[in-house]
Amino acid sequence: VRKGNGVKGLSETGLETVPKQYVQPMEERLDMNNVVNQDSIPVIDMSKYLEDPKVAESICLAAEKWGFFQVINHGVPIEFLDKVEEATRQFFRLPAEAKLKYTKENSPTCNVRYGTSFIPQAETCLEWKDYLSLLYVSEEEASSFWPRECRKQAIEFMKLTEPVINRLIEALMKGLKVKEIDERKESLLMGSKRINLNYYPMCPNPELTVGVGRHSDVSTLTVLLQDDIGGLCVRLLDEENSWAHVPPISGSLVINIGDALQIMSNGRYKSVEHRVIANEKRSRVSVPIFVNPGASNMIGPFAEVLKNGEKAVYKQVWYKEYVKHFFRKAHDGKKTIEYAM
Ligand code: SIN
Ligand code: FE2
Repeated sequence: VRKGNGVKGLSETGLETVPKQYVQPMEERLDMNNVVNQDSIPVIDMSKYLEDPKVAESICLAAEKWGFFQVINHGVPIEFLDKVEEATRQFFRLPAEAKLKYTKENSPTCNVRYGTSFIPQAETCLEWKDYLSLLYVSEEEASSFWPRECRKQAIEFMKLTEPVINRLIEALMKGLKVKEIDERKESLLMGSKRINLNYYPMCPNPELTVGVGRHSDVSTLTVLLQDDIGGLCVRLLDEENSWAHVPPISGSLVINIGDALQIMSNGRYKSVEHRVIANEKRSRVSVPIFVNPGASNMIGPFAEVLKNGEKAVYKQVWYKEYVKHFFRKAHDGKKTIEYAM
């Protein structure tokens, strides 16, 4: 049953305790006393974005103070979000043989990858998660190579989120006094996109495991669709060792700033650590779109940000190298950014 069917297969054996390779060391287990409920990340209504400059301001403020926020009335139809969730479940319901066609060893293209955990060969503890990762090269490529069960919805999701992504970037650039987003800046900020379909099987011991360990994203920003299960927690910036839940809000998208934008904004916008706790009763799916710098770019603080004599906190680095660095090790909090310091 288990072979090739990831953590999902393992979970479906009905085991009562997780195998020891999934048990996290004490210091990586999240003490629920450190997770606050009262103080939640901002929810921003995008419907008045064009008329009301306060919307753009609240986006910048959330990026500075939280690094994470949710948007509602973002223009992507709610019924369509349900379809993306369903397509994700559809893919993971496939028999093992069908999913195994997309493992590192078998996939016809490195742009499509099915896997389990994050970097199993580099991890001392495994994550309670299976995933499908899809690099968007072109619609033509995606239409021929992405798995049929989710292809249409994944491509459409990327298309439908484009306007809200453009607005978010526009607002965030305005906040940095970066006036014009020319072709070069566009490639720097969003030259490459990837969509992941994540599946977190039901877990008998959520307190001992992680769905995803502590990390910050290496993106410019990430747009995430989560289902109604919950489990995503983000680190609070102004309190030591405190975390906040990102409560599921039907129809919302979760936005977070990634390392690339923290670097480009010279630390003004924060790429915040987050993690996922698995659920004891139900499986969870999430679908992040990573909006990344184009692979051939160098990233560093924008000239506009340093204009007033502000000292650069980060140096210029090749984005390709930065990403390689991230994928060389297990999730380890926010260590990757030190590579740019
Ligand atoms: C991630 O940050 O890697 C996943 C987030 C989520 O599943 O909510
Ligand atoms: Fe993440």
